[in-house]
Amino acid sequence: MARTPGQAARRDPDWEGVRLHVVSGKGGTGKTTLAAALALALAADGGRVLLIEVEGRQGIAEQFGIAALPYEERRIASVSRTQLGLPAGEDGPGEVLALAIDTEQALLEYLEMFYKLGRAGKALQKVGFVDFATTIAPGVRDVLLTGKACEAARRKGPDGRRRYDAVVMDAPPTGRITRFLNVNSEVAGLARIGPIHTQAQAVMRVLRSPETAVHLVTLLEEMPVQETVDGIAELHEAKLPVGGVMVNMVRPPVLDAAAVAAVDGDHREDVALALGEAGLGGRSRKAETVRAAVEPLLDPLLEQAREHAERVELEREQRADLQQLRLPTYELPLLGEGVDLGGLYRLAGELKRQGAA
Ligand SMILES: Nc1ncnc2c1ncn2[C@@H]1O[C@H](COP(=O)(O)OP(=O)(O)O)[C@@H](O)[C@H]1O
Ligand SMILES: [Mg+2]
Repeated sequence: MARTPGQAARRDPDWEGVRLHVVSGKGGTGKTTLAAALALALAADGGRVLLIEVEGRQGIAEQFGIAALPYEERRIASVSRTQLGLPAGEDGPGEVLALAIDTEQALLEYLEMFYKLGRAGKALQKVGFVDFATTIAPGVRDVLLTGKACEAARRKGPDGRRRYDAVVMDAPPTGRITRFLNVNSEVAGLARIGPIHTQAQAVMRVLRSPETAVHLVTLLEEMPVQETVDGIAELHEAKLPVGGVMVNMVRPPVLDAAAVAAVDGDHREDVALALGEAGLGGRSRKAETVRAAVEPLLDPLLEQAREHAERVELEREQRADLQQLRLPTYELPLLGEGVDLGGLYRLAGELKRQGAA
C-alpha cells in the first residue's frame, strides 16, 4: 500500500487488529502501571481507549492522580504523540477512559440483562444475595469481569462504529490469569443451553480470537521470569492468544561489556592508577601520596564492580530465557523517581517507540 512520507517513518504497531489487551504479570511487577501506559500509547494516534481495572484497588485512579473511579466509564486523560515525545502525526489527540468494575453492580447488570429483573434485582441486593453469590462462586465474579471487558471491546455506537478502538484490562496476576480468562468455558459447559450459555460462548469467542492479546509483565529476575514462562505455557494450552512480554524496571548498565568482563581479573593496580589520574588522590604528584589516598577506595569500588557484573550476568540469563519464548518483547526503564504522571507518559512513549502500540 502506498504510504505518505509521514507514515513511512512510523513502524506498524505489533498489535494491529487487537482490540482487547489483557495485561497480566506477577504481582508488583508493574501490571497496573504498564496497563495505563499501554492505554495512553494506544490512544496517542487519536484513538479512544478504555482502561479497565478489575481488582478493585483503585490503582488506576492513583496512577493518574485522580479521585477514586466510580463504576462508570470516565474520561481520565487526553494524549497526543508529542506528549509521548514522538513526532507529531496527522491525527489529533486521543483519549483514555477508565472503568473500575464494581462486582456487585456488575452482577446486578448481568442479572438484569438476562432476566430483566429490574427492581427485583435491587431487592436481591437488600437480602444479601449478591454477597452470597459472589462468595460461594468466585467464578461468578470472573464471569462478570471478563463479560464486561468483552462487551466494551465489541460495543458499537449509534453510528455503527466501534465505541472503543481498544480496551486494556489491568488483569489478575499470572498465577490466576488462565483460569480467569477461561471461566466462561466452564460456565458454557455447565449451562448447556439458554442465555447464559450463549453469553459465555460469545465471551470465549472474543477471548480466543485474534482480537485479544494477553501481555505479561515481568522483571529481569528469576522468579517473575519463571512465572512468565509458565504462564505462557498455560495460556497456549488453554488456546488463549499470547501477546507480548513487557520487561519492566530495567536498569541501565553502569559499566560497559569490557569493564564487566574485566572484573574477574586482578586489576587493582590499573584501577589505582586510573583513580590517581582522575584526581582522586589529591593534587600531589608523589606516587606514594596518591597511592595512599586512593588505597581505601579500591576494595569497595572493586566489590561494587563485582556485584554489578553479577547482576549483569543474571540479567543476561533472564533475557536469554525470555528470548526463547520468541514473543515481541518490550523493555521499560526503571524510573528512579517512581512513576508520576510524567513517568507514565514516558513509559507510554517507550512502548510506542518499541512498536507495542
Ligand atoms: N518502570 C518503573 N519504574 C519505577 N517504578 C515503577 C515502574 N513500574 C512500576 N513502578 C512502581 O512499582 C510499584 C508497583 O507497580 P504496580 O503497577 O502497582 O504493580 P502491580 O499492578 O503489578 O502490582 C508502584 O509503586 C509503581 O509506581
Ligand atoms: Mg496492580
